[in-house]
Amino acid sequence: MSIKAIRGMKDVMGTEVARWRLIEAVARKVFRAFGFSELRTPILEKTELFARSIGQATDIVEKEMYTFRDRSGDSLTLRPEATASVVRSYLEHKIHRRPGPHKFFTIGPMFRHERPQKGRLRQFHQLDAEVLGDPGPQVDAELMVMLTQLLQALELDNVELVINSLGCPVCRPDYRRALVGFFQDRTDQLCDDCRRRLEVNPLRVLDCKSEGCRAAAADAPATIDYLCADCADHYQEVKRLLELSSVAFREDPRLVRGLDYYVRTTFEAIAGDLGAQNAVAGGGRYDPLVAELGGEANGAIGFAAGIERLSLVMGAEPPTDRPELFVAALGDQARDWVFPLVAELRSAGLWVEMTSQDKSLKAQMRRANKLAADAVLILGRSELDAGRAIIKQMADGSQQEIELSQLGRAVRLLKRD
Ligand code: HAM
Repeated sequence: MSIKAIRGMKDVMGTEVARWRLIEAVARKVFRAFGFSELRTPILEKTELFARSIGQATDIVEKEMYTFRDRSGDSLTLRPEATASVVRSYLEHKIHRRPGPHKFFTIGPMFRHERPQKGRLRQFHQLDAEVLGDPGPQVDAELMVMLTQLLQALELDNVELVINSLGCPVCRPDYRRALVGFFQDRTDQLCDDCRRRLEVNPLRVLDCKSEGCRAAAADAPATIDYLCADCADHYQEVKRLLELSSVAFREDPRLVRGLDYYVRTTFEAIAGDLGAQNAVAGGGRYDPLVAELGGEANGAIGFAAGIERLSLVMGAEPPTDRPELFVAALGDQARDWVFPLVAELRSAGLWVEMTSQDKSLKAQMRRANKLAADAVLILGRSELDAGRAIIKQMADGSQQEIELSQLGRAVRLLKRD
């Protein structure tokens, strides 16, 4: 029986790789302009890190983590997201003691045991950005400006930025009470999961996709009606700065997120043409998490965008690459003559192709065509004897004879930028 890849985990190849590379290159450029530096954390962490950060009563921690015991008996988890790891690293290396704010980005695979479907995988990849050590509203707006610029650079036109404020430990309890009271009169409409959630994590009911729960939640109390004065001011200022920067957004007072660490500003970028899994990015403020993991709560906010989903909807096309030169050598002597030249050209950065077997000129030209090489260098016995090789430009079929002594210099000119 042949061995296949694990369900929900896929090989990325061909043009898909080109799209990913473009996404990463664009992201790195945007992150740089906003002063973010790269951080690479391990993909395995102690299970406790995620259980404490993301929240015990979330889908991720309850049923989606890849958790196992290693040979020492320690419980480890393949990271389901990057935020917890970034905060762990920030505290472990005592970066919080240096003057901030500190801005990090990380790019890599995440793992969640979800039901695979379009845009939802078990190994997926995120571009993740986090700002630590800044509690003010300006950074919230800056982060959303950055996300908007990233989406624009990738030519994602049909994407909407949706924002909300979830309040803070001061005002959230009032909201929570109001929400529980509201749903308690409608428990018969809720799914089994949500009836249970109502006790442990009522905000999650707003995020349930089942018909009954959605209908029941339609008139649920809105978070923004319960914000304390500080949270309301913060939210106002974020919106003012977004407007000032001409960033389009829609407010959704029922936007809650699948992770429990959020307070105040939360946001998602929703793609119009992605079907059920339509969030290309999501994030928000998570000030209390730093304290929860043993640091001082002095402000934290971030977002992550899913590379697979960006790739599904982006308009920008990656450039296609092709060889600058195909070498059609005919016979052993010609092959030996040209072999070191090919190595030299490759070391100068040209993409040069050469067949390893002695094939007919016709077969070699076919291959050059297939690879879409810019030019073909033809060198056979008669060319060697005459001391000249032929260079054929594939675009217009024109041919040029070049002295062998001048060949290296001449073909180097084929190098594209
Ligand atoms: P999240 O909303 O769970 O947030 O994930 C962020 C993005 O990752 C989603 O919008 C989606 O594009 C992508 N994503 C999530 N799950 C999958 C999946 N199973 N398959 C494909 N793509 C997926 C977080 O992970 C937070 N850590 C974001 C954050 C950073 N908040 C603050 N800082």
